[in-house]
Amino acid sequence: MFGVVSLQSVMLLVAVAFVVAFVLLLYMLSPLVNPARLGLSGAHVVVTGGSSGIGKAIAIECVRQGACVTLVARNEAKLLQAKREVEEHVVNESQAVLCISVDVSNDFNQVESVIKQAQEKLGPVDMLVNAAGTSVAGRFEDIKPQEFKRLMEVNYLGSVFTSLAVVPGMKERRKGRVVYVSSQAGQLGLYGFTAYSPTKFALRGLAEALQMEVKPYNVYVTLAFPPDTDTPGFHEEIKDKPLETKLISETAGLYQPEFVAKVIVKDAVLGNFNSSVGSDGYMLCSLTSGMSPVTSITEGLQQVVTMGLFRLISLFYLCSFDSIVRRCMMKREGCTSPKTE
Ligand SMILES: NC(=O)c1ccc[n+]([C@@H]2O[C@H](COP(=O)([O-])OP(=O)(O)OC[C@H]3O[C@@H](n4cnc5c(N)ncnc54)[C@H](OP(=O)(O)O)[C@@H]3O)[C@@H](O)[C@H]2O)c1
Repeated sequence: MFGVVSLQSVMLLVAVAFVVAFVLLLYMLSPLVNPARLGLSGAHVVVTGGSSGIGKAIAIECVRQGACVTLVARNEAKLLQAKREVEEHVVNESQAVLCISVDVSNDFNQVESVIKQAQEKLGPVDMLVNAAGTSVAGRFEDIKPQEFKRLMEVNYLGSVFTSLAVVPGMKERRKGRVVYVSSQAGQLGLYGFTAYSPTKFALRGLAEALQMEVKPYNVYVTLAFPPDTDTPGFHEEIKDKPLETKLISETAGLYQPEFVAKVIVKDAVLGNFNSSVGSDGYMLCSLTSGMSPVTSITEGLQQVVTMGLFRLISLFYLCSFDSIVRRCMMKREGCTSPKTE
């Protein structure tokens, strides 16, 4: 009897030791299969939405690392002001900051032509960051039909047009990074974001499919999921946010654009597919990783190990969000229990 138990214990120990050794081996091999780092010194980075908020902070971070930057947005005065701010961070005399006024969502030919002009001045685009975006928050039935269309045009098509303008060149040169700034609202649907969330989910489909196409050409895609970030765009959005959306958002913190930008640029340089900020962001990325590309064995292993636990935690979050929505509805409608008929 004792002999059998001890034999089983030994076999269990051997199995555990084997798994631990295998995991350690994968960790050690991880750097060998990761994409090669993209040095930003002397690189040309195009940042859409570069005149404000997260885009401007990303431009500053890239310039600090020695890149030449093209800022893309519509309002010329804001662009010029941003150009001056970004220029304050250059680290050598050869760096240049260019700004281009264009609506990224309007006409592909126009977008292609301005990117071509930027490439003539600052060289081929090494990194494209799609940060131009806008949001509308409100109850589904209160949002005008044309707003759904406008948001899809700016947040999704705007990123498609710029990518179409640079990806062929990147494939030819066997080098490049394309960054899409999605949102945590592109990982889960929240009250008030029926117009905004789908545009950010759409970026995920684009990023995943594009990554599979361009990976053999040494071009890497990064999909960033920023949390609430203290930007002019955030303060504009908050004005119309339903109470439910505000209460749900309050459960997470408000981040500074400089911090968010550092994380995004670091992940893009390393060629990481997912880019998240903070512990909530890490949990959401792991939870929603599904069939998304993995750029390191370490990341894949972490997802395998944590997914079940994070799903359990997410159920508590969902219960608390549902409870917020139910209480707000009862208060608004002056009833003591939710209507069922
Ligand atoms: N702030 C947050 O809490 C947060 C959280 C998650 C994700 N995000 C995403 O992060 C990105 C940046 O957000 P932000 O808060 O930094 O916004 P922001 O401060 O409002 O900046 C938006 C930038 O995009 C430009 N832009 C807007 N529409 C454009 C268009 N059609 N063509 C060209 N440029 C356009 C704006 O310049 P012009 O208006 O002059 O064109 C501006 O430079 C957005 O995609 C947003 O959805 C933000």
